Amino acid sequence: MKKAVPADRVGGCAPVIRSPDCVVISFLTSNDWVPAARRAGNPLAEYLESMETLDAIRSRRDVRTYTAEPIARERLEQILEAGRRSPSSRNWQPWDFVIVTDRDELRELAKVWQGAGHIARSAATIVLVTSVPPDEDTRATAQYDLGQATMNMMLAATDLGIGSGHSAVADQKLARRILGLPDDKLCAYMIALGYPADRPLTPLRHPNRRDFDAVVHWGKW
Ligand SMILES: Cc1cc2nc3c(=O)[nH]c(=O)nc-3n(C[C@H](O)[C@H](O)[C@H](O)COP(=O)(O)O)c2cc1C
Repeated sequence: MKKAVPADRVGGCAPVIRSPDCVVISFLTSNDWVPAARRAGNPLAEYLESMETLDAIRSRRDVRTYTAEPIARERLEQILEAGRRSPSSRNWQPWDFVIVTDRDELRELAKVWQGAGHIARSAATIVLVTSVPPDEDTRATAQYDLGQATMNMMLAATDLGIGSGHSAVADQKLARRILGLPDDKLCAYMIALGYPADRPLTPLRHPNRRDFDAVVHWGKW
């Protein structure tokens, strides 16, 4: 998520882009210089380290309607890089990412599951591909790790102001044919991406979730 910061709070940090009355900061490119900024006493160091991720978490929601604006290749690469960096069991990285931007191909992909209609309208869709698991334990571990990669990419997208929406996959045969996947690979999930057509991604005040106290148990059940 980009943040507008008054220009007078910023002192010559490289990845900061200036506009007439504010400075826009990309969190994803800021990591290298945050320690140097901290040493120099720049207040932005603390700001960047502590705020952006929580804002992205509060702002992410499943977005299923998108503007016609395409997503720049550089932005797509930032999102995919967030997926590549995800943790996984024994670092086995059970994923490949197929990125689809062709409209006809997106329309075809939308047919692999009844809840995949938003894929057809997306500016781009990331398909998470994994190997056909040999047993139930491997399947469960892969599911967990694919979930982590999904969330990393969705949060990175949110950080960039890009909406994202999950989709499951039911028709593996069709998915394999569309994407040209070999038989030992399967299409685990899809993430539709696009700039939100409804409203911008800002922190949700009242998320549709169970109450904090009903979910959280301190020390014991
Ligand atoms: C594993 C998984 C599969 C999902 N599959 C679909 C799907 O096929 N189609 C869809 O529209 N949404 C899908 N969703 C999105 C959920 O419905 C959504 O995350 C949930 O309702 C909470 O809404 P929110 O993400 O806007 O907070 C899926 C989410 C997860 C985690």
